[in-house]
Amino acid sequence: MQEPVELAIITVFSEELHASLYFVNASLQEVVFASTTGTLVPCPAAGIPPVTLRWYLATGEEIYDVPGIRHVHPNGTLQIFPFPPSSFNNLIHDNTYYCTAENPSGKIRSQDVHIKAVLREPYTVRVEDQKAMRGNVAVFKCIIPSSVEAYITVVSWEKDTVSLVSGEKVGSNAGQGLRMN
Ligand SMILES: *[C@@H]1O[C@H](CO)[C@@H](O)[C@H](O)[C@H]1NC(C)=O
Ligand SMILES: *[C@@H]1O[C@H](CO)[C@@H](O)[C@H](O)[C@H]1NC(C)=O
Repeated sequence: MQEPVELAIITVFSEELHASLYFVNASLQEVVFASTTGTLVPCPAAGIPPVTLRWYLATGEEIYDVPGIRHVHPNGTLQIFPFPPSSFNNLIHDNTYYCTAENPSGKIRSQDVHIKAVLREPYTVRVEDQKAMRGNVAVFKCIIPSSVEAYITVVSWEKDTVSLVSGEKVGSNAGQGLRMN
């Protein structure tokens, strides 16, 4: 009467060999998207056999569908739809989420993913007048509205429509030095 027991153990082992839960993209910690395009965020966790994927807010609240605003697809991809600036809601458009993957072999939780919308609003940059002695260097700073500063890169400076720096990226805080002739 020993044989049936051995068979049962072998079956359990082979199921365990095929069952797994794993992270697809452990480097996914932040998703920044434009309000005009929205975003699709795949769940960074997966497994075999097929997993049930669920999204939560970092507070532990399971998220619900908001028609036309936020949706979790059956394949576990979280979609945030494009929206006008007047519909910005920080609970949806600037919040920390995580996803879980669950199957008979267990359950794993992704790390937190900060999902943040950048509002696409018209903005202007400007340069303030500077005074410098003839022969000295005057430093000009590109002044960018703080609401968009983190997402703007100064790519060129022009003097009388002639480009001074082209192709080369200049940090947004970097000034342009000009020798006064
Ligand atoms: C993983 O996430 C990073 C950061 O968002 C992204 O750049 C990269 O394309 C992702 N890789 C995969 C395989 O999805
Ligand atoms: C999941 O489904 C959505 C909607 O059909 C699709 O846009 C998205 O590309 C899918 N993602 C993956 C990872 O298959």
